Amino acid sequence: MSRLDGALDESMRRFALRLAVAVLATSALSCSGEGRRDANEASAPPSASAPGDRGLPNDVGGAASEPWPERFGFGREATQAEIGAWDIDVMPDGRGLPAGRGTVAEGAAIYAAQCVVCHGPAGKGGQYDALVGREPAQGFPFGKDAALLGKRTVGNYWPYATTLYDYISRAMPQAVPGSLAPDEVYSLVAYLLFLNGIVPKDAVMTAETLPKVEMPARRRFVQDNRRGGAEIR
Ligand code: HEC
Repeated sequence: MSRLDGALDESMRRFALRLAVAVLATSALSCSGEGRRDANEASAPPSASAPGDRGLPNDVGGAASEPWPERFGFGREATQAEIGAWDIDVMPDGRGLPAGRGTVAEGAAIYAAQCVVCHGPAGKGGQYDALVGREPAQGFPFGKDAALLGKRTVGNYWPYATTLYDYISRAMPQAVPGSLAPDEVYSLVAYLLFLNGIVPKDAVMTAETLPKVEMPARRRFVQDNRRGGAEIR
């Protein structure tokens, strides 16, 4: 036997030994817990496995019998400031409105600097959504005439004035959402409500006054409590 043959022989022997250890280890595992599988099944393609034998929870990591630790040690508790930064929603009744105040005149100045480029002078005629408009003045035909769908505005469609605060504060100006301070948002809200003919020129918007503003479309919406069939309104 040449030296080369001897070396090959030795490496084959080692390989066989490793394989035997691996097979033993696999079958030992397969007897050790609820997530029982035999060695053949472990190497079979997924489609060949018996249905029901691979329920997800037991299968994860094959360690179903070990209880999970109480904590995994990742991350840390969020601080109140961090939670507060996300907790910005304003409800129809005004819950969630921050302290602050704004006037129509201040709103006009901020609008001219930050909004007019997209929404047009006085809230219409811009490249994007018109924010001002009370047409059609009579009725509420939006659902009946598809041509009117693009004509919905704050003034003729939105049921709650507080939504204006919520939306502007979280989403506008479009390129830098979240950048406006509460006083600026209150001012823009005052200005847009004024342009829509809903509040007077000297209106001051605060957490107390804004929820009291009744929008023209407020009574146009009904609760959707349909359950099908003849109950559909
Ligand atoms: C870069 C363009 C841009 C700028 C600047 C911008 N907006 Fe908008 N705005 C949009 C677009 C686009 C939409 C529609 C977004 C959508 O429907 O998802 C929109 C929607 C709105 C709406 C909702 C309209 C509706 O009836 O659904 C309001 C209110 C609004 N913007 C207010 C403002 C205010 C106030 C400012 C200034 C602080 C501002 N926007 C600046 C592009 C802009």
